[in-house]
Formats: sequence, structure tokens, C-alpha cells
Amino acid sequence: TKQPVRVAVTGAAGQIGYSLLFRIASGDMLGKDQPVILQLLEITPALKALNGVVMELRDCAFPLLADIVTSDDPMVAFKDVDYALLVGAMPRKAGMERGDLLGANGGIFKPQGEALNAVASRDVKVLVVGNPANTNALIAQQNAPDLDAKQFTAMVRLDHNRAISQLAEKTGKPVSSIKNLTIWGNHSSTQYPDLSQATVDGQPALDQVDRDWYENSYISTVAKRGAAIIEARGLSSAASAASAAIDHMRDWALGTPEGEWVSMGIPSDGSYGIPEGLIYGFPVTCKNGQYEIVQGLPVSDFSRGKMDATAQELTEERDEVRKLGLVK
Ligand code: NAI
Repeated sequence: TKQPVRVAVTGAAGQIGYSLLFRIASGDMLGKDQPVILQLLEITPALKALNGVVMELRDCAFPLLADIVTSDDPMVAFKDVDYALLVGAMPRKAGMERGDLLGANGGIFKPQGEALNAVASRDVKVLVVGNPANTNALIAQQNAPDLDAKQFTAMVRLDHNRAISQLAEKTGKPVSSIKNLTIWGNHSSTQYPDLSQATVDGQPALDQVDRDWYENSYISTVAKRGAAIIEARGLSSAASAASAAIDHMRDWALGTPEGEWVSMGIPSDGSYGIPEGLIYGFPVTCKNGQYEIVQGLPVSDFSRGKMDATAQELTEERDEVRKLGLVK
């Protein structure tokens, strides 16, 4: 049997944590043959609630759950971790400007980046879920100079999955028939859900829906889905966010199916003219624990405009956190 791997989850007593931990412990993320040690980080006032979650995890008697560590210190929670899912973040409060929000999250993601740099496995794979996810990932990455920038990623997989689901509903086809759509850019309202390369049952998606629906309804429905869930449920999406985090890490660790790609927020290497270093949603394939950007896709003028607009927003966010001294 395999040796257990260490998986850190921050914000573990929160809504997403309540779905995510049970999926990880049951083997949905790393496979049904991979034992895990959960290393859970919370702020001090939430440790009591976290302990309740730990009691429930133990009560599931998951065969793959080898151990559980809890702490309010990232140097403890991140010790030797192979995977880190950074979920806990500072939510936007009424009247908060973007700079305030980015600054407040810098206070979380800078020390967490430093702690990962100091104590995590040298091969750690980091996924940032907590919003603003792309720029929080950038802050963590920039404060972990001894790790490869490629080890830091942000979640656009929920947007990717939402985009699949909306297209499936529109075409009346199963989600499994849909391949190769891309979420470019920021996990925000400027994201670009791109159907130009997508297929439904092997046929071009854009031959099966009308252009007006795609440009004027679909893109904004996907981008605003989070707000629609809050409106309906009275709470933000949590189970679907946790499920997307599982998908992101599983594909990164275990690989994407041959001939298919997924969307991940990753440090730009300059591909597709996206400024280097920004954590930006790209189409990627994964193999042997590494991801690679899908190269050579044609980019229409329509796509170019959308891809540049979301890059521009991320550049502005980077400028803000630079001013705050959080990144280079
Ligand atoms: P929540 O408020 O229920 O839970 C967040 C937890 O993080 C709380 O238990 C809090 O105590 C903890 N926390 C705060 N600061 C921390 C720190 N410094 N260290 C460790 N833990 C800390 O929120 P929920 O619903 O679980 O969402 C978490 C984050 O995920 C939010 O920022 C949300 O906006 C984001 N999100 C991102 C999505 C994406 O697609 N990228 C989708 C949905 C949510």
C-alpha cells in the first residue's frame, strides 16, 4: 500500500471546507488507493468549530484517512505538505474598495506563502480558492521564492464546470459530450468562457448555438453564476466550489484524459500575449503531476479583446498589491 501524503486545507471550518474535507478523505481527489493526512489551518476563534468537523471526519471511519492535524499556525499546518488548498480568505465587506480587500488578503497570503516556502514539501502543489483567488495566489507565490512559481495555481475550475453545465443545458446534450472549452483570465466578472474551440459530441460548439446567445447571454451567465447562487441559496456556492477544487487537484496530480484540456489559473509564461507572471486562467493538459499550456490555438479578434480585458484587470490588481509591498 502507498505511503500517506499530507494535504493542507486552510479555512477548514468554513462552508467549502465542510464539503471539501470529506471528499479528500474519501479518496475523490488523489485516488481510492492513496491514504492522506489532513493538516487543517484555521484562525484561533474557529478552532472549536474545526474540532467539531474533525469529530465528524473521524466518525466517517474513512479507510484512507491516516491522521488529522489542526492548528492556527501555518508553520505547523504546512509542515511537509504535498498539497495545499488555500480556501480561507477575507471576504469583501460593505464599503470595502478593491485595494482594501487586496490588502486584507495580503495579510493572510503573504505569511502563508512564507510558511509554505519554509516548511512545505519542495514539490508542494498549491491551489488558491479564497478570493480574489488569482491575486491571492500571486501574493503567496511571490513570498515563496525557494519554490517554483509553477507550483502556485488559482481556481477557475468552478467557472469551467459552470460553463460546461450551461452549454450542456442549452444543447440538451450530456456534460460528458462537451470538451475543450477554456476559462481565460481572472476568476471574476471579467473572465472569458471561450467556446471557440469547444466541441459537443465532437462537433464545434459554436455551430450548435447561435452567436448572439453566446456573446450576449452565455458569457455573462457563467461569469455571474456565483451571484445567482447567493441570490437563490442565501449563501455562496460551497459544495460546487469544493467539487471544482477536487477536480483541479485530481487532474493536476493524476492527469487529464488524452486529447482533452481543462482550465487552471497559473503563472503566465507569456503565452498568448498574456503578461508574464500574472496568475491567469489558461487551457492546460496535465501529465505526471505537471501541467502544460495548450499552445497554438487560434485567437479571434473577439477572443483577443476579452483575453486582454481580463489580463488588464489582473495587471491592475498586481499594481495594487505592488504598492502595498506584497509582491515584486
Ligand atoms: P467561509 O467564510 O464559510 O469560510 C472561510 C473560513 O476561512 C472561515 O472558517 C475562516 O475562519 C477561515 N479563515 C479566515 N482567515 C483565515 C486564515 N488567515 N487562516 C486560516 N483560515 C482562515 O467561506 P467559504 O464559503 O468556505 O469560502 C472561502 C473562500 O472561497 C472565499 O474567499 C470565497 O470567496 C472563495 N470562493 C472561491 C471560489 C472560486 O471559484 N475560486 C468559489 C467559491 C468561493
